[in-house]
Amino acid sequence: MARDGALYACQSCGTTHAKWAGQCAACGSWNSLVEEIVSRPPGALAPGRGAKTRGLAFEGLEAHAPSPPRIATGLEEFDRVCGGGVVPGSAILLAGDPGVGKSTLLLQVCAQAARRGAACAYISGEEAVEQIRARARRLGLADAPVKLAAETALRDVVDALRREAFDLVVVDSIQTLWSDAHEAGPGSVTQVRACAGELVRLAKRKGVAIIMVGHVTKDGQIAGPRVVEHMVDAVLAFEGERGYPFRILRGAKNRFGATDEIGVFEMGDAGLAEVRNPSALFLNEGGERAAGAAVFAGIEGSRPVLVEFQALVAPSVYGTPRRAVVGWDSGRLAMVMAVLEARCGLGFATRDVYLNVAGGLRISEPAADLAAAAALASSALDVALPQDCVVFGEISLSGDIRPVSRMEARLKESAKLGFSRALAPAPADGGSAVAVTAVARLADAVAKIGDGA
Ligand code: TYD
Ligand code: MG
Repeated sequence: MARDGALYACQSCGTTHAKWAGQCAACGSWNSLVEEIVSRPPGALAPGRGAKTRGLAFEGLEAHAPSPPRIATGLEEFDRVCGGGVVPGSAILLAGDPGVGKSTLLLQVCAQAARRGAACAYISGEEAVEQIRARARRLGLADAPVKLAAETALRDVVDALRREAFDLVVVDSIQTLWSDAHEAGPGSVTQVRACAGELVRLAKRKGVAIIMVGHVTKDGQIAGPRVVEHMVDAVLAFEGERGYPFRILRGAKNRFGATDEIGVFEMGDAGLAEVRNPSALFLNEGGERAAGAAVFAGIEGSRPVLVEFQALVAPSVYGTPRRAVVGWDSGRLAMVMAVLEARCGLGFATRDVYLNVAGGLRISEPAADLAAAAALASSALDVALPQDCVVFGEISLSGDIRPVSRMEARLKESAKLGFSRALAPAPADGGSAVAVTAVARLADAVAKIGDGA
């Protein structure tokens, strides 16, 4: 029998099991169960025994006092993703790969907010105070009235936050924080859950906004912090491809705003610079667009963004042809290829297929289907698309092209950037600066591409 209080927590998904097993029954990861001694939080109900209650007071939907205004950090790209500034008393998780720029972003957020009069603290468990100072100097933020601390003990962090009245606190990172009420090591699911839980409660009670940094693992999962996702009010993902300077801040969950909003930054010598108008950022500047390239007129959050899809279809030298995709869903690529094979007579069985979204952007809109298909067809047929042509549209399994949202905005932005044609589903109302070659079926689109029109 398991020892009293001993549980086995999966380090990948956070599920706890009474017995050890080689594989987590909940998420299927192997060798992820670790024994953890779980102590009951003080005040928690013991099973089968009643406890003293404080009584529950109900309230109306309408507030008697106006809620405090949001904290505008002055970093507009950040504020927009938060839904118009940070909500006082909210808990936010900023998740991203190590090295993507989370600490840099949050130091800038803290400093800007502090300059605008918010009481801000930056608590790091990863870097020494002198290191953070050096970074602030390099970013030209050394004069901002931010209170710094290097600390990993949750007890000390909580004590300090109880004593002092802050508006905004950054905790970098949740994996380095450690609570002495639990035996598990820092970064383990038990510790991460306990520390985050404590910070979320503190945020609500004190009305201080707390932003926690969480590192993600290679497979895109937030290790440990996954269990934090449902505790916090907002989860922001900070993304970027290695080798590109662009960084995308994406709202993955937000109780106080839309989740499809993105913020675009460029990492340079002076930290992260905001990119206010990213629509032309992901286009290859200058030069002819070769066969295999298609410009997708996309929408990211509330803004139109044009981005180049690049495909290479080449004879395979191996028995099993290769499929590689960067910046798009590989399942979606398989679907588009299957439709191209079944409905348009293009064969990929003996060919390698590579698909790349330029600039390190990740596209998840279904409207990108036709752009990917156009890039693939253009490469397979070795015919370049017209230079002034954008592409968008969703593809169904039957090979139909479905209309997509916000066609007007896509066409308008395309016209602004000098495009005059679009290969797309028929627009609802004809009038637009861009001539739309309306296609109802993928086979028609492929025929048009083959004809070079
Ligand atoms: P960092 O914020 O430390 O990443 P994280 O906290 O997500 O691990 O940023 C790390 C990278 O950013 C590092 O490789 C160097 C780069 N960087 C710049 O290019 N310019 C800058 O001004 C700063 C501060 C960092
Ligand atoms: Mg960091």
